[in-house]
Amino acid sequence: MTPNQIETVKDSFQRVAPVASSLSLTFYAELFRIAPSVRPYFPSEMHSQRVKLVDTLSAVVLNLHQLHALNDTIAGLAKRHVEYGARPEHFAPVGHALIYALKQTTPNGLTPVETEAWVAAYGEITDMMVDTMVNSAA
Ligand code: HEM
Repeated sequence: MTPNQIETVKDSFQRVAPVASSLSLTFYAELFRIAPSVRPYFPSEMHSQRVKLVDTLSAVVLNLHQLHALNDTIAGLAKRHVEYGARPEHFAPVGHALIYALKQTTPNGLTPVETEAWVAAYGEITDMMVDTMVNSAA
């Protein structure tokens, strides 16, 4: 990610943060619509799940300029995801649902430049998670 993209993600996240609960509702609705096979991996009661998603997203966005500071956090998250049943091929639908939810719920939507910056951010975190998942499976 370029420094500009990092600032772009942080700025647009500030716009969506006040409506974070709509963001997470829309995210899971879209994820389960496009990838219904992953629904059973998640708890039936999704409230605390949504809170955790938003908390983690905030922590990651705040630390985008120093993602290495989150190495251990992301490695731990990735190892737990192996136990949840997540596989590398699930990151594409999750990323699609995230971008869709951001576009739908961010006040005034996302510009193409903002969309590209979020795609880059999600890609970097996905790479870190998948690396750990693949290596911990070996
Ligand atoms: C960058 C990508 C992702 C991030 C940042 C992320 C983040 C999180 C967080 C913070 C939690 C809360 C529980 C915990 O901290 O361990 C969680 C739970 C979960 N995630 Fe993810 N996740 C990502 C991708 C995925 C993918 C690709 C899947 C595949 C379907 C997935 C499936 C799950 C499931 C099933 C749970 C709930 C487990 C339970 O509560 O029983 N996640 N995720």
